[in-house]
Amino acid sequence: MAYRWTNTLTRADATPEALFLNRRQLMAGAAAGIALAGTGARSEEALEPNSWEDITQYNNFYEFGTGKSDPASYASALTTEPWSIEIDGLVERPGTYDFKDIMAEMNVEERIYRFRCVEAWSMVIPWNGFELADLLAMAGVQAQAKYVRFETLYRPEEMRGQSSRFIDWPYVEGLRLDEALHPLTIMATGIYGRTIPNQNGAPIRLVVPWKYGFKSIKSIVKITLTEEEPVNTWQQLQPSEYGFYANVNPEVDHPRWSQATERKIGGGLFSPRIPTLMFNGYEEEVASLYEGMDLTRFY
Ligand code: MTE
Repeated sequence: MAYRWTNTLTRADATPEALFLNRRQLMAGAAAGIALAGTGARSEEALEPNSWEDITQYNNFYEFGTGKSDPASYASALTTEPWSIEIDGLVERPGTYDFKDIMAEMNVEERIYRFRCVEAWSMVIPWNGFELADLLAMAGVQAQAKYVRFETLYRPEEMRGQSSRFIDWPYVEGLRLDEALHPLTIMATGIYGRTIPNQNGAPIRLVVPWKYGFKSIKSIVKITLTEEEPVNTWQQLQPSEYGFYANVNPEVDHPRWSQATERKIGGGLFSPRIPTLMFNGYEEEVASLYEGMDLTRFY
């Protein structure tokens, strides 16, 4: 398995070899504060991003309904300006951070990541965003903090799906602090260099590429640093089927379907399923986070 880390990989770049950086160069670059885009490539191929149409018309965003086209149909009702994120809990500088002030401080770059939904479909998405670690540094993480809890906006007058009560709104997600600080973990604010559409989680959403898509919570309004492991929405709804970690793992099936393969959206009805990769292809970068954990167990 080969992994490529590049600092300038974009859709237009045909020869990823020319951009290859080894791990040591990556670390040196990171130490020097150079912006780095990470792409774990499937085997020897470069990642072929899905179209804008695929990425913005086939979505999961239950605040707007449970159908795949509901978010594209109804998310235009969402007002994303003004927007702020409350950061509280075990931080040095708790407060309400205006989205525009955050963006003025952050280093936005392109990250082309695989995205694997727990429902066994996948896409490749060219996100624009910044590392969550940089946002957490703005607020200053206290030494006792062990987890990060995220909350989506609750505004039923604009989010028609929130009138249905099967989810205890707002949608909540969580990460262990080391996962949150990992350089692959980003806050996305754009796709294909354009402002992120409402249906994809405007104006700001989490992206954790080695975990099932439900971890990548959309339209975030609150971040809380905690000592306790947060209970995420899907775990709360169905603990026998969804856990806290939710790392992509082809060897651990969902109780109702196999996770060994996936269907890449956009390939047409008869496109062959492709193998799912351990940690969604980011094993080299993240496996060390889970040393000592029994990965054959469902988490
Ligand atoms: N975030 C919120 N607030 N509400 C949701 O319903 N769905 C999750 C995740 N984040 C969801 C959410 C699921 S199941 C997936 S697969 C991804 O968003 C889908 O992201 P996309 O529509 O941008 O592809």
